Amino acid sequence: MYLSCYDQLGSRPFDFDAQGMVALLLFLLWTTLVCAAPVRQSIFNAADFGAVGDGRADNSKAFQRAWTAACTSAQPSPVVLVPSPGTFLLRRVAFSGPCRAKRIHFQVAGNIVAPYGQWTSDLTSAWITFIRINGLTIHGSGKIDGQGSKWWACRINHMLAVAFCDGFHLEGVHFANSPAKHVTVFRSQWVMINGISVSSPGDSPNTDGLLIQESKHVQVISSNFASGDDCVAIGTGSSDVNVTSITCGPGHGVSIGSLGIGGTRAEVERVRVTSSQFFNTMNGVRIKTWPGGSGFARAISFDNNGFTSVVNPVIIDQYYCGGARSCPNKTSAVEVSDIRYAGLRGTATGDHAIKLECSREVPCREIVLDNVVINSAVRGKKASSLCYNAHGWTRNTVVPEVPCLAA
Ligand SMILES: *[C@@H]1O[C@H](CO)[C@@H](O)[C@H](O)[C@H]1NC(C)=O
Ligand SMILES: *[C@@H]1O[C@H](CO)[C@@H](O)[C@H](O)[C@H]1NC(C)=O
Repeated sequence: MYLSCYDQLGSRPFDFDAQGMVALLLFLLWTTLVCAAPVRQSIFNAADFGAVGDGRADNSKAFQRAWTAACTSAQPSPVVLVPSPGTFLLRRVAFSGPCRAKRIHFQVAGNIVAPYGQWTSDLTSAWITFIRINGLTIHGSGKIDGQGSKWWACRINHMLAVAFCDGFHLEGVHFANSPAKHVTVFRSQWVMINGISVSSPGDSPNTDGLLIQESKHVQVISSNFASGDDCVAIGTGSSDVNVTSITCGPGHGVSIGSLGIGGTRAEVERVRVTSSQFFNTMNGVRIKTWPGGSGFARAISFDNNGFTSVVNPVIIDQYYCGGARSCPNKTSAVEVSDIRYAGLRGTATGDHAIKLECSREVPCREIVLDNVVINSAVRGKKASSLCYNAHGWTRNTVVPEVPCLAA
């Protein structure tokens, strides 16, 4: 599979005309806040470090120089600026800390673009990595385009990876066409993701919008996800994750998991998906685990979400094995408990608007459906539910009926 994908990629490295010089005129307006202690910020404009926004020159080194200058600066809140207008081509880059300041900003005013085609022979890497930087904010209205179509046959290599960054904020940036997952957040705490957008074709494989892994105290709010895989995926080691007011579609919905791959232990708790809308997605809110894993997914709630023409709006799938038709039987499973679905509305295109497919070995406990009404999107058809090994209860109106749960 990888071989055929690499055949398609071709092997010629890119040859950039680094000599082409474009003069950029930039006017920086420095505003001083009128308050007791004026905020001092110093701007490290990538253009001042040799970056050229012509969409062709390789700016990786210039960006590295701007980053290093900002990261080692004694200023209290340095800003690395990707200036606008301009489209800045970057090859694979990593920005690392720790930095001297408590907060450091990476402002995406202009656009960033990846080389078209192969930029690494490494199968598990990211194009842009931010690592070990506490107090990092990435913000701006620019677009980061992974030009990933050449990668889609391979299903590998992520776009923006953020790891070990406590206090990470991501605001406003547009992401498009990642080779695989667009944004991944790993081992970070107190993370705020606000007002971002992700857009890739609905048939681009493995292009999750956002993957949160081994991270705690994470908020994702007011963001739009349209891609070929999960809009937001929450992986093992994550707790206290709130996803609020997002839109999802096309895509595979919001997913807890997959958990327990290859017999591993997984732990996810205190996840809340609230006031979000799903349009024409494969799933709405999903918990998916591999047979044979251990650990738990618990204290998870899905409140006040809307579904429009979603194949499986509510789904627990403990028989997930990476798309294979049937999984081998195993004797353990990730335990799913204390899951609440409340105030859900919408339409389903699949046969089962509510699917609770829990493990034979470790049945689901405390599944609560409260005021859930999901009708068939197909005129004249009645939506139904599916239930294996699920225990819990329903409250108020629940449509379709879920007979395995106590009323
Ligand atoms: C998530 O929401 C809950 C309930 O409103 C709140 O107690 C918790 O502090 C929130 N967590 C974060 C990281 O915002
Ligand atoms: C798994 O177990 C179930 C229930 O005992 C059985 O019906 C099914 O045939 C088994 N599948 C395999 C692949 O062994």
